[in-house]
Amino acid sequence: MNLEAEIRSFQPDDQADVIALWDIVFPEGAAWNRAEDVIARKRTVQPDLFYVAVRQDRVVGTIIAGFDGVRGWIHRLAVHPQVRRQGLASRLMRHAERDLKEIGCPKVNLQVRASNLDVLAFYRALGYDVEDRASLGKPLN
Ligand SMILES: CC(C)(COP(=O)(O)OP(=O)(O)OC[C@H]1O[C@@H](n2cnc3c(N)ncnc32)[C@H](O)[C@@H]1OP(=O)(O)O)[C@@H](O)C(=O)NCCC(=O)NCCS
Repeated sequence: MNLEAEIRSFQPDDQADVIALWDIVFPEGAAWNRAEDVIARKRTVQPDLFYVAVRQDRVVGTIIAGFDGVRGWIHRLAVHPQVRRQGLASRLMRHAERDLKEIGCPKVNLQVRASNLDVLAFYRALGYDVEDRASLGKPLN
C-alpha cells in the first residue's frame, strides 16, 4: 500500500476533515481565525493555493499560501500529530513555494507565534531566516 500522502488543492468535500484537523492542531483561535470563515474566504481568493495532504482518504495536512503581488505568505501549516516527522510539512512547504514562484512571487514571509518558537528549527531547515522586523496587526471590524 502506498502510504505517501498526496498533495492537492482543497476541495469543498475536504471541509469537515480540515476543520477536524485544525481543531486538533490550532485549538485556541481568535475570532478572525474561525475555521469555517478562513475556508470560506480562501475559497474566494487564490483558492488553488490552499492545499491539503491526503493519505488513505483522510486529510492529514494543510497549508494556505497567497501572493499579494509583493510578497507570498504562508498560513495554516498543519500536520496531524500521528504523521509528524515524516517530511510531510516540508513537502507542503515546497509545494506551496513552487506554485508561488510559478506566479512570480519573489519572496515568502510567514509569522510564528512567540508561544511556538520550537517550530523555528523546522523553518530554518527549509532555508527560512528570522528577520529583524516587528510584526504588526489590526483586525478590520
Ligand atoms: C510544525 C509541523 C507543521 C511540522 O510538521 P512535520 O510534518 O512533522 O515536519 P517535517 O517532518 O517536514 O520536519 C522536517 C524537519 O523539521 C524539523 N522539525 C519538525 N518539527 C519540529 C519540531 N517540533 N521541533 C524541532 N524541529 C522540528 C526537524 O529537523 C525535521 O526533520 P527530522 O524529523 O528529520 O528531524 C507540525 O509539527 C505541526 O503541525 N505543528 C503544529 C502547527 C504549527 O506549529 N504550524 C506552524 C505554524 S507557524
